[in-house]
Amino acid sequence: MESSAVWPEPVVRVQSLSESGAPTIPDRYVKPESERPTTEVGGGAITTSGGSISIPVVDVSSPQDPSTARLVAAACRDWGFFQAVNHGVSRDLLRRARAAWRGFFRLPMAAKQRYANAPDTYQGYGSRLGVDPGAVLDWGDYFFLHVRPPHLLDPLKWPHLPPDLRETTEEYSREVASLCGRLLGAMSAGLGCGESRLQEAFGGAEGAGVCVRVNYYPRCPQPDLTLGLSSHSDPGGMTVLLADDRVRGLQVRRHGAGGGGWVTVDPVPDAFIVNVGDQIQVLTNAAYRSVEHRVTVSAADERLSLALFYNPRSDLPLAPMPELLLAAARPPLYRPMTFDQYRLYIRRRGPRGKAQVDSLATAAADDDDGCTSAAAATTAAADAAAT
Ligand code: OGA
Ligand code: NI
Repeated sequence: MESSAVWPEPVVRVQSLSESGAPTIPDRYVKPESERPTTEVGGGAITTSGGSISIPVVDVSSPQDPSTARLVAAACRDWGFFQAVNHGVSRDLLRRARAAWRGFFRLPMAAKQRYANAPDTYQGYGSRLGVDPGAVLDWGDYFFLHVRPPHLLDPLKWPHLPPDLRETTEEYSREVASLCGRLLGAMSAGLGCGESRLQEAFGGAEGAGVCVRVNYYPRCPQPDLTLGLSSHSDPGGMTVLLADDRVRGLQVRRHGAGGGGWVTVDPVPDAFIVNVGDQIQVLTNAAYRSVEHRVTVSAADERLSLALFYNPRSDLPLAPMPELLLAAARPPLYRPMTFDQYRLYIRRRGPRGKAQVDSLATAAADDDDGCTSAAAATTAAADAAAT
C-alpha cells in the first residue's frame, strides 16, 4: 500500500499548545491510564534499594579492541542500549549541533511552517508519526531529514536558518555516521563473526542510509497524563542519540521481576546513547535486541534531542545471518524483508511498542515451508502495512 501524501487531520504544533499557556492539554494528547508515565503496575520506574539502575556505559575509544567488542555485545544482548563515552566526536561539534537546532525551534512559527512535512517522506517539520485518524498524539514536534543516500537528500527541506544549521548538521551527520561504522564493527566482532560482517549485511558503508530526527519536547502543563514519544523500538539499524544536556526524559524498558518497568536514563555529559534497531535484531536473529523506549515530558523544562538513524541499504532483503543460525543451531525467526517495506508500518501506524518486529517472528513461525522466498517477504510487508 502507498504511504499517504497528507495527514488525516489538521496539524497542530505542540509548541503552540505549550506557548498558549493553557493549564490543561487537549484530550488528543491524554494517554490511556496504562501508558501514563506515573503508572506503577507493570510500568513503574525500576529502582533498586541502593539507588537507580542504569544502562551500561562503554568506553569506545578503541572500537577494534576485543574487550570493547565484548562490552558492546553484552550491552546489546542484555539491554539493547548503552552510553558511548570517548566516542571521538568533538564537544564543540555537539555544542554547535545543539545550538543550531535550538535556534531553529526558537524561530517564529511562520518561518518553521515553510518546512511542514507530509507522511510520504516525513522530511521536514512534523508533529506526528503515523496517519491513523483519531490517534492519541505525542507531546512533541520534530524535524526529520534524510542525509544519505544522496538521492534522498532534499535541499529544499533543509532549514536556511540559523545560517550555520545546514553545514553543522552535515558535519555532525558525517562524524556520527562514521562513529556508527566503528560501533557496527564492534557489534559484529562481538557476535564472533568478524568485524565487517554486519556492515556487509547493511549493504556496505556506502550503501547505509542515514537520517536525522531532531526531537523538540516543549514544556507540558500535565506531564503525568501524556508522553513526548510513545513506547516504540527503532525500526532501522542503529540509533545514536545526543540527549539534552540538562533535562532527562528518555526511559528504556527493562524486563525483570514483576513484568519489568521503565528505567530513566541519566545521560553522561556529551556521551551518545546508542541502541539496537529492529533491523539488527533481524540480522542477528534476536541475539541483539531492539528494546522499547519512550520519552516523558516536564512542566518545568523543554527538552531537545538529536537522533541519528544508521540504516541498512533500504532495498536489500534482510534476514538472519546464516552463520549465526548454524552456530546457535536455531531456526530463523524472521523472513527476508527490505527496510523500505518494513518502515511502511511505523509510517502508517506510528509508535507501537515492539508490535511490528514481534509480529514478523510470529509470521515466520507460522510459515511451514521455511522463510526464504521473496514472495513471502512481499506478503509479510503488505500485511505489516495493512494491519
Ligand atoms: C527517537 C527516540 C528519544 C529521545 O527519536 O526514536 O527514541 O530522547 N528519541 O528523544
Ligand atoms: Ni527511538
